[in-house]
Amino acid sequence: MEKMWSGRFSASASNLLDQFNASIMYDRKLYREDIEGSLAHAKMLTKQQILTEDEFKLIEEGLMQVKSEIESGAFEWKISDEDLHMAIEKRLTDIIGDAGKKLHTARSRNDQVAVDFRCYTLRKNLEIVELIKKLMKEIVVVADKHTETLLPGMTHLQHAQPINFGFHLGAYLSMFKRDIQRFESSYERNNISPLGCAALAGTPHNIDREYSAKLLGFESVSVNCLDTVSDRDFALEILFNISTMMMHISRLSEELVLWSSYEFGFVELSDEYSTGSSIMPQKKNPDVPELLRGKTGRVYGSLIGLLTVMKGLPLAYNKDTQEDKEGVFDAVETAELSLEILKEAIKTMQVKTKNMNSACKIGHLSATDLADYLVEKCDIPFREAHFITGKAVAKSEELGIDLSDIDLSHLQEIDARISQDVLDFLVLENSMNARKSQGGTASIRTKEQLEFFKKYLEGK
Ligand code: ARG
Repeated sequence: MEKMWSGRFSASASNLLDQFNASIMYDRKLYREDIEGSLAHAKMLTKQQILTEDEFKLIEEGLMQVKSEIESGAFEWKISDEDLHMAIEKRLTDIIGDAGKKLHTARSRNDQVAVDFRCYTLRKNLEIVELIKKLMKEIVVVADKHTETLLPGMTHLQHAQPINFGFHLGAYLSMFKRDIQRFESSYERNNISPLGCAALAGTPHNIDREYSAKLLGFESVSVNCLDTVSDRDFALEILFNISTMMMHISRLSEELVLWSSYEFGFVELSDEYSTGSSIMPQKKNPDVPELLRGKTGRVYGSLIGLLTVMKGLPLAYNKDTQEDKEGVFDAVETAELSLEILKEAIKTMQVKTKNMNSACKIGHLSATDLADYLVEKCDIPFREAHFITGKAVAKSEELGIDLSDIDLSHLQEIDARISQDVLDFLVLENSMNARKSQGGTASIRTKEQLEFFKKYLEGK
Protein backbone atom coordinates (compact mmCIF):
# COMPACT_ATOMS: atom_id res chain seq x y z
CA MET A 1 0.00 0.00 0.00
CA GLU A 2 1.33 3.48 -0.98
CA LYS A 3 1.80 5.91 1.87
CA MET A 4 0.94 9.57 1.40
CA TRP A 5 4.53 10.41 2.24
CA SER A 6 6.12 7.63 0.18
CA GLY A 7 7.56 9.79 -2.63
CA ARG A 8 11.16 9.62 -1.46
CA PHE A 9 11.05 5.97 -0.39
CA SER A 10 11.90 2.99 -2.57
CA ALA A 11 10.89 0.17 -0.22
CA SER A 12 7.53 0.04 1.51
CA ALA A 13 7.09 0.16 5.27
CA SER A 14 7.19 -3.06 7.25
CA ASN A 15 4.08 -4.30 9.01
CA LEU A 16 5.89 -3.98 12.27
CA LEU A 17 6.58 -0.31 11.60
CA ASP A 18 2.93 0.23 10.69
CA GLN A 19 1.88 -1.13 14.06
CA PHE A 20 4.52 0.75 15.98
CA ASN A 21 4.08 4.07 14.23
CA ALA A 22 0.31 4.26 13.98
CA SER A 23 -1.96 6.29 16.22
CA ILE A 24 -5.10 5.61 14.22
CA MET A 25 -6.40 3.07 16.75
CA TYR A 26 -6.95 5.85 19.27
CA ASP A 27 -6.70 9.22 17.53
CA ARG A 28 -9.83 8.36 15.51
CA LYS A 29 -11.69 9.68 18.55
CA LEU A 30 -10.77 13.12 17.22
CA TYR A 31 -12.59 12.73 13.91
CA ARG A 32 -15.12 15.51 14.60
CA GLU A 33 -12.40 17.98 15.51
CA ASP A 34 -10.35 16.89 12.50
CA ILE A 35 -13.21 17.42 10.06
CA GLU A 36 -14.16 20.76 11.58
CA GLY A 37 -10.52 21.87 11.43
CA SER A 38 -10.30 20.85 7.76
CA LEU A 39 -13.50 22.68 6.92
CA ALA A 40 -12.28 25.88 8.56
CA HIS A 41 -8.94 25.56 6.80
CA ALA A 42 -10.59 24.99 3.41
CA LYS A 43 -12.94 27.91 3.93
CA MET A 44 -10.03 30.18 4.77
CA LEU A 45 -8.08 28.97 1.70
CA THR A 46 -11.14 29.76 -0.42
CA LYS A 47 -11.51 33.25 1.02
CA GLN A 48 -7.83 33.81 0.24
CA GLN A 49 -8.39 32.51 -3.33
CA ILE A 50 -6.03 29.61 -2.82
CA LEU A 51 -8.95 27.24 -3.46
CA THR A 52 -11.87 27.95 -5.80
CA GLU A 53 -15.47 28.00 -4.62
CA ASP A 54 -16.10 24.81 -6.59
CA GLU A 55 -13.19 23.07 -4.95
CA PHE A 56 -14.46 24.17 -1.54
CA LYS A 57 -17.93 22.78 -2.27
CA LEU A 58 -16.45 19.44 -3.24
CA ILE A 59 -14.28 19.37 -0.13
CA GLU A 60 -17.19 20.30 2.09
CA GLU A 61 -19.49 17.64 0.64
CA GLY A 62 -16.72 15.06 0.69
CA LEU A 63 -15.91 15.74 4.33
CA MET A 64 -19.59 15.46 5.24
CA GLN A 65 -19.71 12.09 3.54
CA VAL A 66 -16.59 10.95 5.38
CA LYS A 67 -18.20 12.06 8.64
CA SER A 68 -21.37 10.10 8.00
CA GLU A 69 -19.35 7.04 6.98
CA ILE A 70 -17.46 7.26 10.26
CA GLU A 71 -20.64 7.68 12.26
CA SER A 72 -22.44 4.83 10.54
CA GLY A 73 -19.47 2.54 11.03
CA ALA A 74 -18.87 2.17 7.29
CA PHE A 75 -15.50 3.95 7.40
CA GLU A 76 -12.58 1.60 7.13
CA TRP A 77 -9.89 2.40 9.71
CA LYS A 78 -6.63 0.89 8.46
CA ILE A 79 -3.48 0.79 10.49
CA SER A 80 -1.48 1.36 7.29
CA ASP A 81 -3.04 4.86 7.08
CA GLU A 82 -1.06 5.69 10.24
CA ASP A 83 -3.33 8.34 11.74
CA LEU A 84 -6.78 9.79 11.38
CA HIS A 85 -5.53 12.83 9.52
CA MET A 86 -4.20 10.76 6.66
CA ALA A 87 -7.07 8.31 6.72
CA ILE A 88 -9.63 11.08 6.36
CA GLU A 89 -7.70 12.97 3.69
CA LYS A 90 -7.17 9.79 1.72
CA ARG A 91 -10.84 8.86 1.83
CA LEU A 92 -11.77 12.42 0.89
CA THR A 93 -9.57 12.21 -2.19
CA ASP A 94 -11.08 8.82 -3.07
CA ILE A 95 -14.51 10.45 -3.00
CA ILE A 96 -13.89 13.84 -4.64
CA GLY A 97 -10.67 13.33 -6.63
CA ASP A 98 -8.00 15.99 -7.14
CA ALA A 99 -9.64 18.73 -5.07
CA GLY A 100 -9.00 16.55 -2.03
CA LYS A 101 -5.28 16.72 -2.68
CA LYS A 102 -5.38 20.52 -2.33
CA LEU A 103 -6.76 20.54 1.21
CA HIS A 104 -3.34 20.14 2.79
CA THR A 105 -2.00 23.36 1.20
CA ALA A 106 -0.48 25.61 3.88
CA ARG A 107 -1.04 22.97 6.53
CA SER A 108 0.91 20.15 8.14
CA ARG A 109 -0.19 17.30 10.33
CA ASN A 110 1.76 19.10 13.02
CA ASP A 111 -0.63 22.04 13.25
CA GLN A 112 -3.54 19.77 12.33
CA VAL A 113 -3.05 17.46 15.31
CA ALA A 114 -2.42 20.48 17.54
CA VAL A 115 -5.80 21.89 16.47
CA ASP A 116 -7.69 18.62 16.90
CA PHE A 117 -6.26 17.72 20.26
CA ARG A 118 -6.53 21.25 21.62
CA CYS A 119 -10.19 21.54 20.55
CA TYR A 120 -10.98 18.19 22.18
CA THR A 121 -9.24 19.21 25.40
CA LEU A 122 -10.90 22.63 25.53
CA ARG A 123 -14.32 21.03 25.12
CA LYS A 124 -13.58 18.45 27.80
CA ASN A 125 -12.52 21.14 30.30
CA LEU A 126 -16.02 22.58 30.01
CA GLU A 127 -17.88 19.26 29.97
CA ILE A 128 -16.10 18.15 33.13
CA VAL A 129 -17.09 21.43 34.81
CA GLU A 130 -20.75 20.59 34.16
CA LEU A 131 -20.31 17.14 35.69
CA ILE A 132 -18.60 18.58 38.77
CA LYS A 133 -21.51 20.98 39.20
CA LYS A 134 -23.98 18.10 39.11
CA LEU A 135 -22.01 16.27 41.78
CA MET A 136 -21.84 19.42 43.90
CA LYS A 137 -25.61 19.85 43.65
CA GLU A 138 -26.11 16.34 44.98
CA ILE A 139 -23.69 17.00 47.84
CA VAL A 140 -25.59 20.19 48.68
CA VAL A 141 -28.85 18.21 48.91
CA VAL A 142 -27.33 15.87 51.52
CA ALA A 143 -25.48 18.64 53.34
CA ASP A 144 -28.68 20.68 53.63
CA LYS A 145 -30.35 17.90 55.59
CA HIS A 146 -27.49 17.59 58.07
CA THR A 147 -26.55 21.04 59.28
CA GLU A 148 -27.40 19.92 62.82
CA THR A 149 -26.19 16.34 62.61
CA LEU A 150 -23.25 16.02 64.98
CA LEU A 151 -20.21 13.96 64.14
CA PRO A 152 -16.69 14.05 65.48
CA GLY A 153 -14.48 16.45 63.59
CA MET A 154 -11.02 14.93 63.40
CA THR A 155 -7.38 15.78 63.12
CA HIS A 156 -4.82 12.96 62.79
CA LEU A 157 -7.91 10.73 62.42
CA GLN A 158 -8.45 11.29 66.14
CA HIS A 159 -11.62 12.77 67.59
CA ALA A 160 -11.05 16.50 67.96
CA GLN A 161 -14.15 18.73 68.15
CA PRO A 162 -17.82 18.20 67.36
CA ILE A 163 -18.87 19.48 63.94
CA ASN A 164 -21.94 18.88 61.82
CA PHE A 165 -22.12 16.67 58.75
CA GLY A 166 -23.23 19.51 56.47
CA PHE A 167 -20.07 21.38 57.42
CA HIS A 168 -17.96 18.30 56.70
CA LEU A 169 -19.49 17.98 53.22
CA GLY A 170 -19.02 21.72 52.72
CA ALA A 171 -15.27 21.12 52.80
CA TYR A 172 -15.62 18.98 49.66
CA LEU A 173 -17.80 21.61 48.02
CA SER A 174 -14.92 24.05 48.50
CA MET A 175 -12.48 21.61 46.88
CA PHE A 176 -14.72 20.96 43.89
CA LYS A 177 -15.28 24.67 43.40
CA ARG A 178 -11.53 25.17 43.14
CA ASP A 179 -11.41 22.31 40.65
CA ILE A 180 -13.98 24.05 38.48
CA GLN A 181 -11.93 27.24 38.56
CA ARG A 182 -8.88 25.31 37.37
CA PHE A 183 -10.71 23.75 34.42
CA GLU A 184 -12.18 27.12 33.48
CA SER A 185 -8.89 28.91 33.66
CA SER A 186 -7.20 26.24 31.50
CA TYR A 187 -9.96 26.76 28.97
CA GLU A 188 -9.32 30.51 28.88
CA ARG A 189 -5.54 30.23 28.73
CA ASN A 190 -5.41 27.64 25.96
CA ASN A 191 -8.15 28.97 23.73
CA ILE A 192 -5.63 29.84 21.02
CA SER A 193 -5.55 28.61 17.43
CA PRO A 194 -2.56 26.62 16.15
CA LEU A 195 -4.02 26.43 12.63
CA GLY A 196 -1.74 27.84 9.96
CA CYS A 197 1.49 27.18 11.84
CA ALA A 198 2.06 24.40 9.30
CA ALA A 199 5.05 22.17 10.01
CA LEU A 200 6.95 24.54 12.30
CA ALA A 201 7.75 27.84 10.64
CA GLY A 202 4.52 29.11 9.11
CA THR A 203 3.86 29.11 5.37
CA PRO A 204 4.64 31.22 2.31
CA HIS A 205 0.97 31.04 1.25
CA ASN A 206 -1.15 34.11 1.89
CA ILE A 207 -3.31 32.64 4.66
CA ASP A 208 -5.56 34.36 7.20
CA ARG A 209 -5.08 32.74 10.56
CA GLU A 210 -7.41 35.11 12.34
CA TYR A 211 -10.21 34.03 10.05
CA SER A 212 -9.79 30.27 10.52
CA ALA A 213 -9.35 30.79 14.27
CA LYS A 214 -12.68 32.61 14.38
CA LEU A 215 -14.39 29.87 12.40
CA LEU A 216 -13.23 27.33 14.96
CA GLY A 217 -14.31 29.46 17.91
CA PHE A 218 -10.80 30.20 19.18
CA GLU A 219 -10.33 33.40 21.12
CA SER A 220 -7.04 34.29 19.41
CA VAL A 221 -4.16 33.06 17.25
CA SER A 222 -0.92 31.66 18.64
CA VAL A 223 2.08 33.99 18.56
CA ASN A 224 5.00 31.71 17.69
CA CYS A 225 4.58 28.74 15.34
CA LEU A 226 7.66 26.89 16.53
CA ASP A 227 6.24 26.79 20.05
CA THR A 228 2.69 26.08 18.93
CA VAL A 229 3.32 22.84 17.03
CA SER A 230 5.12 21.31 19.98
CA ASP A 231 3.16 22.86 22.84
CA ARG A 232 1.23 20.30 24.88
CA ASP A 233 0.71 22.45 27.98
CA PHE A 234 -3.04 22.30 27.38
CA ALA A 235 -2.91 18.50 27.63
CA LEU A 236 -0.74 18.63 30.75
CA GLU A 237 -3.12 21.13 32.28
CA ILE A 238 -6.19 18.99 31.84
CA LEU A 239 -4.23 16.05 33.27
CA PHE A 240 -3.22 18.12 36.27
CA ASN A 241 -6.76 19.45 36.67
CA ILE A 242 -8.16 15.94 36.57
CA SER A 243 -5.45 14.64 38.89
CA THR A 244 -6.23 17.27 41.50
CA MET A 245 -9.95 16.68 41.16
CA MET A 246 -9.41 12.93 41.46
CA MET A 247 -7.27 13.54 44.55
CA HIS A 248 -10.29 15.29 46.09
CA ILE A 249 -12.59 12.49 44.96
CA SER A 250 -10.14 10.00 46.41
CA ARG A 251 -10.10 11.76 49.80
CA LEU A 252 -13.88 11.70 49.92
CA SER A 253 -13.81 8.07 48.80
CA GLU A 254 -11.41 7.17 51.57
CA GLU A 255 -13.89 8.67 54.05
CA LEU A 256 -16.76 6.75 52.49
CA VAL A 257 -14.77 3.53 52.84
CA LEU A 258 -14.02 4.29 56.49
CA TRP A 259 -17.53 5.49 57.21
CA SER A 260 -19.15 2.38 55.77
CA SER A 261 -17.06 0.08 58.00
CA TYR A 262 -18.56 -1.45 61.16
CA GLU A 263 -16.07 0.56 63.18
CA PHE A 264 -17.50 3.89 61.99
CA GLY A 265 -20.95 2.97 60.68
CA PHE A 266 -21.61 6.58 59.63
CA VAL A 267 -23.06 5.74 56.22
CA GLU A 268 -24.39 2.79 54.34
CA LEU A 269 -23.91 2.76 50.60
CA SER A 270 -26.98 1.63 48.68
CA ASP A 271 -27.21 -1.91 47.33
CA GLU A 272 -27.15 -0.45 43.83
CA TYR A 273 -23.65 0.90 44.41
CA SER A 274 -22.17 -1.83 46.60
CA THR A 275 -20.85 -5.25 45.74
CA GLY A 276 -20.72 -8.64 47.39
CA SER A 277 -17.97 -11.14 48.05
CA SER A 278 -17.63 -14.36 46.07
CA ILE A 279 -16.85 -16.33 49.23
CA MET A 280 -18.18 -14.41 52.24
CA PRO A 281 -21.96 -14.24 51.92
CA GLN A 282 -22.42 -11.61 54.61
CA LYS A 283 -20.28 -8.98 52.93
CA LYS A 284 -21.23 -5.68 51.37
CA ASN A 285 -18.18 -4.00 49.96
CA PRO A 286 -17.64 -0.33 49.08
CA ASP A 287 -16.08 -1.10 45.68
CA VAL A 288 -17.18 2.21 44.20
CA PRO A 289 -15.16 4.49 46.50
CA GLU A 290 -12.30 1.97 46.50
CA LEU A 291 -12.12 2.07 42.71
CA LEU A 292 -12.33 5.84 42.71
CA ARG A 293 -9.35 5.87 45.05
CA GLY A 294 -7.52 3.38 42.84
CA LYS A 295 -8.26 5.11 39.55
CA THR A 296 -6.77 8.29 40.95
CA GLY A 297 -3.40 6.57 40.82
CA ARG A 298 -3.82 5.72 37.16
CA VAL A 299 -4.68 9.33 36.33
CA TYR A 300 -1.55 10.56 38.13
CA GLY A 301 0.38 8.06 36.00
CA SER A 302 -0.86 9.75 32.83
CA LEU A 303 0.18 13.17 34.12
CA ILE A 304 3.67 12.00 35.06
CA GLY A 305 3.86 10.04 31.79
CA LEU A 306 3.23 13.07 29.60
CA LEU A 307 5.46 15.35 31.68
CA THR A 308 8.20 12.82 31.11
CA VAL A 309 7.50 12.53 27.38
CA MET A 310 7.79 16.30 27.02
CA LYS A 311 10.78 17.07 29.17
CA GLY A 312 13.55 16.25 26.73
CA LEU A 313 12.06 17.38 23.45
CA PRO A 314 14.05 19.75 21.27
CA LEU A 315 11.97 22.16 19.19
CA ALA A 316 9.71 21.64 17.47
CA TYR A 317 7.41 18.66 16.73
CA ASN A 318 8.80 15.23 17.60
CA LYS A 319 6.97 11.95 17.18
CA ASP A 320 7.28 11.37 20.93
CA THR A 321 4.38 13.79 21.18
CA GLN A 322 2.06 11.22 19.64
CA GLU A 323 2.19 9.57 23.08
CA ASP A 324 0.14 12.48 24.45
CA LYS A 325 -3.29 11.19 23.52
CA GLU A 326 -4.04 7.88 25.20
CA GLY A 327 -3.32 9.12 28.71
CA VAL A 328 -5.51 12.17 28.22
CA PHE A 329 -8.37 10.15 26.72
CA ASP A 330 -8.13 7.67 29.56
CA ALA A 331 -7.99 10.38 32.23
CA VAL A 332 -10.93 12.26 30.72
CA GLU A 333 -13.07 9.13 30.51
CA THR A 334 -12.09 8.16 34.04
CA ALA A 335 -12.98 11.63 35.30
CA GLU A 336 -16.37 11.61 33.60
CA LEU A 337 -17.33 8.18 34.85
CA SER A 338 -15.98 8.88 38.34
CA LEU A 339 -17.98 12.08 38.72
CA GLU A 340 -21.18 10.36 37.61
CA ILE A 341 -20.87 7.35 39.84
CA LEU A 342 -19.76 9.32 42.89
CA LYS A 343 -22.82 11.53 42.44
CA GLU A 344 -25.10 8.48 42.36
CA ALA A 345 -23.39 6.83 45.33
CA ILE A 346 -23.85 9.98 47.41
CA LYS A 347 -27.42 10.46 46.28
CA THR A 348 -28.40 6.93 47.31
CA MET A 349 -26.35 6.46 50.48
CA GLN A 350 -27.96 6.29 53.89
CA VAL A 351 -26.58 8.65 56.52
CA LYS A 352 -26.62 7.02 59.95
CA THR A 353 -27.05 10.07 62.13
CA LYS A 354 -27.40 8.05 65.35
CA ASN A 355 -23.98 6.52 64.94
CA MET A 356 -22.47 9.87 64.09
CA ASN A 357 -24.01 11.34 67.23
CA SER A 358 -22.91 8.56 69.52
CA ALA A 359 -19.37 8.70 68.15
CA CYS A 360 -19.29 12.24 69.53
CA LYS A 361 -19.57 10.73 73.01
CA ILE A 362 -16.14 9.20 72.63
CA GLY A 363 -12.97 11.20 73.03
CA HIS A 364 -14.03 14.16 75.19
CA LEU A 365 -14.83 16.37 72.25
CA SER A 366 -15.86 19.31 74.42
CA ALA A 367 -12.50 19.53 76.20
CA THR A 368 -11.55 22.67 74.27
CA ASP A 369 -14.87 24.19 75.37
CA LEU A 370 -14.04 23.61 79.01
CA ALA A 371 -10.70 25.35 78.52
CA ASP A 372 -12.44 28.21 76.69
CA TYR A 373 -14.94 28.45 79.59
CA LEU A 374 -12.12 28.74 82.11
CA VAL A 375 -10.55 31.52 80.07
CA GLU A 376 -13.76 33.39 79.36
CA LYS A 377 -15.73 33.01 82.61
CA CYS A 378 -13.02 32.48 85.23
CA ASP A 379 -10.32 34.73 83.79
CA ILE A 380 -7.75 31.91 83.89
CA PRO A 381 -4.80 32.16 81.43
CA PHE A 382 -5.21 29.65 78.56
CA ARG A 383 -2.11 27.59 79.44
CA GLU A 384 -3.42 27.01 82.97
CA ALA A 385 -6.94 26.37 81.65
CA HIS A 386 -5.46 23.70 79.35
CA PHE A 387 -3.85 22.01 82.38
CA ILE A 388 -7.05 22.09 84.48
CA THR A 389 -9.01 20.65 81.56
CA GLY A 390 -6.44 17.88 81.31
CA LYS A 391 -7.23 16.98 84.91
CA ALA A 392 -10.96 16.92 84.12
CA VAL A 393 -10.34 14.60 81.15
CA ALA A 394 -8.26 12.30 83.36
CA LYS A 395 -11.08 12.27 85.93
CA SER A 396 -13.63 11.35 83.22
CA GLU A 397 -11.39 8.55 82.01
CA GLU A 398 -11.11 7.27 85.55
CA LEU A 399 -14.90 7.33 85.85
CA GLY A 400 -15.30 5.70 82.45
CA ILE A 401 -17.46 8.52 81.08
CA ASP A 402 -17.21 11.21 78.44
CA LEU A 403 -16.30 14.70 79.61
CA SER A 404 -19.66 15.96 78.36
CA ASP A 405 -21.34 13.76 81.02
CA ILE A 406 -19.19 14.71 84.02
CA ASP A 407 -20.90 16.01 87.21
CA LEU A 408 -20.40 19.56 88.35
CA SER A 409 -19.10 18.32 91.73
CA HIS A 410 -16.22 16.48 90.06
CA LEU A 411 -15.23 19.58 88.15
CA GLN A 412 -15.40 21.74 91.27
CA GLU A 413 -13.13 19.33 93.11
CA ILE A 414 -10.53 20.01 90.42
CA ASP A 415 -10.99 23.77 90.49
CA ALA A 416 -13.29 25.67 92.83
CA ARG A 417 -13.63 28.60 90.42
CA ILE A 418 -15.86 26.47 88.17
CA SER A 419 -19.60 27.12 88.58
CA GLN A 420 -22.94 25.72 87.36
CA ASP A 421 -22.84 27.57 84.01
CA VAL A 422 -19.98 25.29 82.88
CA LEU A 423 -22.43 22.54 82.04
CA ASP A 424 -23.82 24.41 79.05
CA PHE A 425 -20.31 24.59 77.64
CA LEU A 426 -19.91 20.84 77.80
CA VAL A 427 -23.03 20.03 75.79
CA LEU A 428 -21.74 18.77 72.43
CA GLU A 429 -24.31 20.60 70.37
CA ASN A 430 -23.45 23.86 72.12
CA SER A 431 -19.81 23.19 71.47
CA MET A 432 -20.52 22.87 67.72
CA ASN A 433 -22.73 25.95 67.67
CA ALA A 434 -20.22 27.99 69.65
CA ARG A 435 -17.84 27.88 66.69
CA LYS A 436 -19.61 30.63 64.85
CA SER A 437 -16.61 32.57 63.63
CA GLN A 438 -16.62 33.13 59.87
CA GLY A 439 -16.26 29.78 58.07
CA GLY A 440 -16.87 27.91 61.32
CA THR A 441 -18.99 24.83 61.94
CA ALA A 442 -21.93 26.41 63.85
CA SER A 443 -25.18 25.42 62.16
CA ILE A 444 -25.94 29.02 61.19
CA ARG A 445 -22.48 29.35 59.64
CA THR A 446 -22.81 26.03 57.85
CA LYS A 447 -26.15 27.14 56.39
CA GLU A 448 -24.51 30.34 55.20
CA GLN A 449 -21.77 28.34 53.52
CA LEU A 450 -24.28 26.10 51.81
CA GLU A 451 -26.17 29.18 50.59
CA PHE A 452 -22.91 30.43 49.13
CA PHE A 453 -22.43 27.21 47.17
CA LYS A 454 -26.06 27.14 46.04
CA LYS A 455 -25.74 30.66 44.67
CA TYR A 456 -22.51 29.73 42.97
CA LEU A 457 -24.12 26.69 41.36
CA GLU A 458 -27.06 28.79 40.18
CA GLY A 459 -24.54 31.06 38.51
CA LYS A 460 -25.24 34.04 40.78
N1 ARG B 1 -0.17 11.14 14.53
C1 ARG B 1 0.65 12.26 14.78
C2 ARG B 1 0.52 12.68 16.24
O1 ARG B 1 -0.40 12.31 16.85
C3 ARG B 1 0.27 13.41 13.92
C4 ARG B 1 1.37 14.37 13.60
C5 ARG B 1 2.40 13.68 12.80
N2 ARG B 1 3.36 14.57 12.24
C6 ARG B 1 4.45 14.15 11.67
N3 ARG B 1 5.26 15.01 11.18
N4 ARG B 1 4.79 12.89 11.67
O2 ARG B 1 1.36 13.38 16.79
